[in-house]
Amino acid sequence: MRLIHTSLFAAIAALGLAACNQQPAAPAAEAPATTPAEGSAAPADPATAPADPATAPATAAAPAADASATAELAPTQGNETKGSITFKLVDGKVHASGQISGLKPGSEHGFHIHEKGDCSAPDGMSAGGHFNPGKQDHGNVATDPHHGGDMPNIKADDKGVATIDGPVSSNVNIGKGDDFDIIGRGLIVHADADDYKTQPTGNAGARLACAVIKKAP
Ligand code: CU
Ligand code: ZN
Repeated sequence: MRLIHTSLFAAIAALGLAACNQQPAAPAAEAPATTPAEGSAAPADPATAPADPATAPATAAAPAADASATAELAPTQGNETKGSITFKLVDGKVHASGQISGLKPGSEHGFHIHEKGDCSAPDGMSAGGHFNPGKQDHGNVATDPHHGGDMPNIKADDKGVATIDGPVSSNVNIGKGDDFDIIGRGLIVHADADDYKTQPTGNAGARLACAVIKKAP
């Protein structure tokens, strides 16, 4: 078992080093002493790589082109807003679609991806601020600048149901696992409309519903 553990550790160490080599900012001091040859083939996926590197699969686990995500919006304390949203790629860009109910008829509401997939606080504040991996100002997703999590306001019909079919910022993705990935982030419906101007919130008010964005099965 020791031999297997050792070679598995070596494979994981090689992977970690390969990842570090692609990030110039990574401190060199953290590199392990046993440096593998530059360009040596490392197993593609540590989760599925067998202990013996000779039998490791050569194919890299690239994100599927049809990657999608879901978010089940639940009401915050004292509210009735809920809904189900799907994020998928349309022409290579992330697009949100779905329905949200429990709104005032004809009302308009701010709707954003927030930085934390944490809806534990009764008022939804645990989801943090707007998802902003590009370090931009808040704004309208149709113009620059804007946050990666900014999306168009949603509008309720005469039954208090909003049908969402809108764009998300062009610099975010689904499932790449980088800083711009929306998986694991929060989704918030606000009490008021986003004015697309006030920093950094759009002055959209309290949080009516909250969801964690999850990778679709
Ligand atoms: Cu928001
Ligand atoms: Zn914003």
